[in-house]
Amino acid sequence: MPEWLTRFCLYLAPMAGVSDLVFRSLCKELGADVVETEFVSAEGVLQAWNRTHSYVEISASQRPVGVQIFGSNAANMQEAARIICGEIHPDFIDLNAGCPVPKVVGHNGGSSLLREPELLQRITEALVRGVGESCPITAKIRIGWDAEHICAREICHRLAQAGVASITIHGRTRSQQYGGRANWDIIRECAAAETVPIIGNGDLVTAQDVAREWRTGGVAGVMIGRAAMTNPWIFREAKHLMKTGSPLAPPSTAERVEFILRHVRLELEHGRYGDESSTLRTMRARLLAYAKGIPGSKSHRPALARVSSLAELREILADLSSDG
Ligand SMILES: Cc1cc2nc3c(=O)[nH]c(=O)nc-3n(C[C@H](O)[C@H](O)[C@H](O)COP(=O)(O)O)c2cc1C
Repeated sequence: MPEWLTRFCLYLAPMAGVSDLVFRSLCKELGADVVETEFVSAEGVLQAWNRTHSYVEISASQRPVGVQIFGSNAANMQEAARIICGEIHPDFIDLNAGCPVPKVVGHNGGSSLLREPELLQRITEALVRGVGESCPITAKIRIGWDAEHICAREICHRLAQAGVASITIHGRTRSQQYGGRANWDIIRECAAAETVPIIGNGDLVTAQDVAREWRTGGVAGVMIGRAAMTNPWIFREAKHLMKTGSPLAPPSTAERVEFILRHVRLELEHGRYGDESSTLRTMRARLLAYAKGIPGSKSHRPALARVSSLAELREILADLSSDG
């Protein structure tokens, strides 16, 4: 078993359009132990590797890093996993069985697999058989399709039988999408029932939330998604709290502003989102998420929502800093 699966790790959640190469590196610097790419479709890997490749780019400094795939055809998923492992050598391949988006569910992928446990098990077995010897297979699930069909226990059991190295459970059903609260009782029940490591996910917003799950001792690690978009410092804050028992002061406005500018500069250098104007437009939601963490930023939100150049962003942030 890889070393990172034997200790309590902080995972950055896979987030489409968010957990790109640059953001993963930044979170890693701030203390994320394990990171993961956005999901890619197995069919996309098979049919258009040149295009799909940019979603699953990894760098050595990010390791351990996983690539997440979705799909519903066991043979194609096995072949896609072989291509990914042969081309970029990730530390693990994560099977997505939680995505609620109609486009994915409509093709029987993502959370749709929760309604087809036998198919999910067959796909997992195919992945483990195909690449499992050199690359661990993990899975990410939700607790069930809806409140009447909670199936996390059965699904975890089947995944464990199929040979996964760990399972991440997002404590919501598919029909909850991102509403309501994540059900951590079910996550902890699954962790108690299985020997395979269970990573808990959903609504961990502060370092205190993370430290609570670490102290409670039920799960083998935790995964953080949306909170990292507003406060990527959550990783170092949580680690400090777990190590010393006392909270770390939050980053100053100056540190946050510097971080935002660095993130944008790195994205521009990397070029994933095109030229300057298109990169800034693509990153508007990200900038608004960062601004949430900055006191007094409310009046700057409309400007951030329209920003389309680095110079404009610098001005808005300078304004924001002088207000603070
Ligand atoms: C913008 C966005 C994109 C996401 N994309 C993915 C994805 O590609 N794969 C996946 O398994 N989950 C995806 N998720 C779900 C997250 O990984 C995570 O399970 C969910 O946000 C709950 O965790 P949180 O409360 O810490 O945000 C996404 C969530 C968000 C907000």
